Amino acid sequence: MNKNLVEGKIAVVTGSGQGIGEAIARRLAEFGAKVIITDINREKGQATADALCAEGYEASFKYFNVTDFDNLKSEIEAMRDIYGRIDIWVNNAGLTGTLRVDEITIEHWDKMQTIDIKSVFFCTQAVYEIMKEQNYGKLVHISSMAGERGGRSSSCAYSSAKAAVLNMSKCFALSGGQYNITSNCVCPGRTLTAMAQGLSWLTDPKDDPKLTIPMCRFGTPDDIANAVLFLSSDLSSYITGDIIDVNGGLYMK
Ligand SMILES: NC(=O)c1ccc[n+]([C@@H]2O[C@H](COP(=O)([O-])OP(=O)(O)OC[C@H]3O[C@@H](n4cnc5c(N)ncnc54)[C@H](O)[C@@H]3O)[C@@H](O)[C@H]2O)c1
Repeated sequence: MNKNLVEGKIAVVTGSGQGIGEAIARRLAEFGAKVIITDINREKGQATADALCAEGYEASFKYFNVTDFDNLKSEIEAMRDIYGRIDIWVNNAGLTGTLRVDEITIEHWDKMQTIDIKSVFFCTQAVYEIMKEQNYGKLVHISSMAGERGGRSSSCAYSSAKAAVLNMSKCFALSGGQYNITSNCVCPGRTLTAMAQGLSWLTDPKDDPKLTIPMCRFGTPDDIANAVLFLSSDLSSYITGDIIDVNGGLYMK
């Protein structure tokens, strides 16, 4: 296996203190990137960075709240200043909710939209400026299977925001091509993380993966990280505005 896929690249992963983001940060580091772990959970973010450094990888932690809209631009510029560039930006931080369509409140709707699409757009807009100046960039956005087919165990407010991420990614792909910037999405299916703990598919016998998922198992954070690695590397240099589904065949378009 070529362990130099993203050698020397500078990568930032939002919400990478745990779960899918942590696995993405680790996979990018394993394949040669210098990784900036960002999260609102200082303890977990620092622990992730410390663990990677202890294994000889180059990683650091920076506290970063993706919904701190007044400071996003300056915070992202400060991250750029650590190494002088940002080659790979992964929008991973997110929250889910489980309210049914007849239960959704305006407060819940706004909360999901704020973190799951508004923050993704404004983070991307700020990093896009940096990537334009570099004439190079890989934008990867973690959407969801729910964003493609509708939310069943996750709320419509969440799945609608994730659907918007798919469209937003295409807008940056359309604008970014001339600057050698690609923008792509990964849509995880049912993936075993802390976020999954509140979702019905984890415990409902009707959702037994051996009966419902062609690959007969739930996904792991590493499954998602492998797709992100590909979209972050120059192996995918002519792929933009696209989506990789990582759902074990549960949803096929
Ligand atoms: N787990 C699944 O089944 C699944 C399925 C589809 C999509 N996803 C998506 O994958 C991404 C990662 O999910 P996960 O399952 O690893 O979740 P998780 O809850 O385990 O981890 C999310 C991380 O984001 C951080 N975070 C939350 N709010 C933040 C903020 N405002 N600023 C910065 N960081 C913040 C958390 O502290 C946490 O470390 C999310 O975008 C989620 O919607 C997950």
